[in-house]
Amino acid sequence: VFIIVKKTAEDFAKEQKEISVSEFFEKNKHLLGFDNPTKALMMTVKEAVDNALDACQDAGIVPDITVKIKQSGEDKYVVSVQDNGPGIVKEQIGRIFGKLLYGSKFHKLRQSRGQQGIGISAVVLYSQLTTGNPAKVWSKVESKKKTHYFEMHLNTMKNEPEVIKEEDIDYAVLGESGIKIEITVVGRYRKTIEDYLKQTSIANPFAKINFTSPDGTKITYPRSINELPKEPKIMKPHPYGMEFGTLQRMLHNSSSRTLQSFMTNEFSSVGAQTAKELCKVAKLDANSKPESLDRDAIEKVMNAVQKVKIQRPPLDCLSPIGESELEKSLRKEYPNAEFITTITREPTVYRGFPFMIEAGIVYDEKDIEVDDEKKKGDAIDVLRIANRVPLLYQSGACATIEAVKDVDWKRYGLSQSANSLPTGPVKVVIHMCSVWVPFISESKEAIAPYPDIVKEMKLAIQDAGRNFSRFLSGRRRAGEQKRRVQIFERYANEVANSIAGLTGKQEKEIEKKLLGMIKNRVKIIEKEIEEENNKNGVNNESNKEETKKDEKPKQEKIKEKK
Ligand SMILES: Nc1ncnc2c1ncn2[C@@H]1O[C@H](COP(=O)(O)OP(=O)(O)O)[C@@H](O)[C@H]1O
Ligand SMILES: [Mg+2]
Repeated sequence: VFIIVKKTAEDFAKEQKEISVSEFFEKNKHLLGFDNPTKALMMTVKEAVDNALDACQDAGIVPDITVKIKQSGEDKYVVSVQDNGPGIVKEQIGRIFGKLLYGSKFHKLRQSRGQQGIGISAVVLYSQLTTGNPAKVWSKVESKKKTHYFEMHLNTMKNEPEVIKEEDIDYAVLGESGIKIEITVVGRYRKTIEDYLKQTSIANPFAKINFTSPDGTKITYPRSINELPKEPKIMKPHPYGMEFGTLQRMLHNSSSRTLQSFMTNEFSSVGAQTAKELCKVAKLDANSKPESLDRDAIEKVMNAVQKVKIQRPPLDCLSPIGESELEKSLRKEYPNAEFITTITREPTVYRGFPFMIEAGIVYDEKDIEVDDEKKKGDAIDVLRIANRVPLLYQSGACATIEAVKDVDWKRYGLSQSANSLPTGPVKVVIHMCSVWVPFISESKEAIAPYPDIVKEMKLAIQDAGRNFSRFLSGRRRAGEQKRRVQIFERYANEVANSIAGLTGKQEKEIEKKLLGMIKNRVKIIEKEIEEENNKNGVNNESNKEETKKDEKPKQEKIKEKK
């Protein structure tokens, strides 16, 4: 016999309770990428390094980052990350590290590595959940002599920091300014951390990263360029990406006096002329007060946006790695690769957000030869990068992988079965930079495969692929020869030095002569290739067809054949 106890709405009412964002993520730590010990350790390093790079770049400081991982128990690691950025003022340290959804980037439309304000505080939350250890933070700002030292927990019920120690100390380690954090987590150390750092170095050629692994191995990832990239600007939202609720909120909070000035002030790419046109098409008075627009009127504005031609958003908010910079850093990481090509596409727009795709192809036949037979059947490596941050998980759901699969790799001599990645001695790099990267989840592991984005990625790979197929056809001939001559170029200085030693002649002079000889040799080889190209009727028409007519083919880097 069942006795059914009836519950009333009032009973249920007593059970309702607010859930703090920290409690939510404590229970759902997998949503933030902490779903197993290996990933958790990786996320800890990644969030701290991403922040360090963001902070340095924003402050105009060339980053010097030190990462140390020490094992402190069977499955426990102490992670310390130090940067030479601007540091954090005392008053902010607590909330930055001890409050989820707190940060300086969320409300700005600006290309940065972090965006949600849930990076480093999530690490603190995970650390306290798995080890109970407090997070330690040292912060030195330029204007203060002393370093602020904090030890803290995160109060999950309140989603507020709980500082347990706070003092100003003398601490020479940080120099002029910077942050050092030390966090203990339950984790498992895998080489993927080194992959992440290596890829980070590729995507941030201006950064120097020093790493000490748990077994004491020290690795330095040097910079390959000495200057920071141009600073990415903040942009206002573009009308094309606007949603009803957002527009409604903006109208109601606006301090602009007329609808027309609201449009020109609060949106990018809307000048007086466009604003007037929008009002006209929406059949609304350009002088009406923004907060007076009702739902009907807002709907009319939304529709007008679809009909009126509006300039694309400004593009100075994007900071690509750059063709030559990306090539340099790939050369640095893959010094033995036979061929490397990189391209940067022109910026375009998805849902009102400007974005830009870069692609690179690395051909490294020896890398496969030295390895075992089995590896020959492995899919190619795809280095996925979003706003200069390498993505390491959830590749199956990522726009980048969709794009790579979509390309016909057979034309580049790789084998590929339907709807899968090709196999062969190739690495493909894809970088998307945008003021807002659409990640599939809070852990920012994969880029959502919006068709506009996938298409642009595919075009980027094909642009690079064009250079690649030229290399492939040319490489059996003079290409190899040319490469050998160019290798000699690297040692010209040493050779000159030795000859100078032997002959007593001027080293500079000898080096100049040597380089001249090399240059001539390269010219002759290039000419030979070109002649052969002409003989063979250059161009790869089938390749060209794949690109839209309005796509301007990229500068040819290597001359074409058949
Ligand atoms: N090493 C650092 N140096 C200076 N500021 C930092 C550093 N780390 C974090 N911050 C600041 O703390 C904020 C919150 O960081 P985080 O929780 O990782 O979120 P997000 O990076 O997504 O904004 C950042 O927006 C930044 O302003
Ligand atoms: Mg962050």
